[in-house]
Amino acid sequence: MPIASPLAETTAQRLLSDRVRACLGPDFVWGVATSSYQIEGGVGQGGRGESIWDRFCATPGKVRNGDSGRIACDHVNRWPEDLDLIQAGGFGAYRFSIAWPRVQPDGGAGSAGWNSEGLGFYDRLVDGMLERGLAPHATLYHWDLPQALQDVGGWTVRETAQRFADYAEQMGRRLGDRLASLSTHNEPWCTAILGHLTGQFAPGWTDEGAMAQTSHHLLLSHGLALQALRAAGVSCPLGIVLNMSSASAASDDPADVRLAEREYARMVRWFIEPLLLGRYPPEAEWLAPMQREGDMALIAQPLDFLGVNYYTRIWASSQGLPAPRPHGVTDMGWEIYPSGLSELLLRLHSDYRLPPVMITENGMANPDSVQAGRVPDLARIDYLRQHLEALADAKAAGVDLRGYFAWSLLDNFEWDSGYGKRFGLVHVDYATQVRTPKDSYRWMQQNLKQVKQEVGTTGAS
Ligand code: FCB
Repeated sequence: MPIASPLAETTAQRLLSDRVRACLGPDFVWGVATSSYQIEGGVGQGGRGESIWDRFCATPGKVRNGDSGRIACDHVNRWPEDLDLIQAGGFGAYRFSIAWPRVQPDGGAGSAGWNSEGLGFYDRLVDGMLERGLAPHATLYHWDLPQALQDVGGWTVRETAQRFADYAEQMGRRLGDRLASLSTHNEPWCTAILGHLTGQFAPGWTDEGAMAQTSHHLLLSHGLALQALRAAGVSCPLGIVLNMSSASAASDDPADVRLAEREYARMVRWFIEPLLLGRYPPEAEWLAPMQREGDMALIAQPLDFLGVNYYTRIWASSQGLPAPRPHGVTDMGWEIYPSGLSELLLRLHSDYRLPPVMITENGMANPDSVQAGRVPDLARIDYLRQHLEALADAKAAGVDLRGYFAWSLLDNFEWDSGYGKRFGLVHVDYATQVRTPKDSYRWMQQNLKQVKQEVGTTGAS
């Protein structure tokens, strides 16, 4: 599909440096990411069951403007056009998620069974990627739990972990031989903390005990799923996606340093140490979920890769001082802090024996609008360039980095912010569903063209 209109000259001058391109080529995976609830639409259609986000959105006051994923980007109908956009952008990979209630409407809580129409949708989607030379990277859980499972306790009950493992095995058997990777969870921190402690996300609970138990059951479900997938002979690389931040203490004051370490332990170590070390970090003792003997060994299944989502850093000031924010903030109010990405990766690399790492999300919200057919999102180009530079630094320092997925392909339903925040490389007009590639899309396209040309001249595959 031809994508017309070249980049403005000022933008073109900001292409990735030779150093970054050399560091992140030629076998590096370049992709874009989305998630099911945020783009698919087709809610209540094609046999799809209700999800906790449908219920949450229908609850007054939970989501800005009363928005919901009912139509979203209408991706269930427009996916061929969306895959064309990924291909035309020069990307080689697409990270998407499977809506559990679309393939198993009641999540196994009742007798609904598997929904052939939903399964058929993902079959076609994956085949559509392969036809376009796009490597499919699937995520099983990007927060849309079947409501029927929530009705019997959701992630606070242990049984849900087994239901998840059954679902994982089914999807692995159906799609595994066509996938480039399969992740169990996206950002279990968000499900546990935002879903069960702050109540900002579905299911909207505010209960510390439920939060702790949820985080344990999410990790357990990951371990059970990996076991089931491997026992079923699913051979694609298996992993998990965690959201992570570096932590900066506001000063050398021991109180600030301690606070930074505590926040880092709660966000990062609480999830990665069970997975890699088979134990919770003693520093995050506040959580103390109920466990059974053998759980930690189950959780610590070998990982073929780790997905890292990075957006911003943790700022820790015991005095409540604000972060200096030298690079500014995004439309979410999140500080732009590119060197946090390399700091984080280098710390992980020195603290653990990491599996290969992919950056599975990185990007920014920006108040974009279409102006004479173009979307001049220069701030996003800067954001991407600076984070890719930080990534190259980490790779040069020895981190085994295999890929980068920009969040997101499309503007989409940004959870409790509704459609008010735009993260896409491609603008979506929600009234008409017209897609307009932004300047950041064209910038990535130019970079990837150059990477490919260089690969061609060096003869690398
Ligand atoms: C991440 C989520 C993703 C999107 C971005 C902005 O936490 O995984 O769905 O909302 O933030």
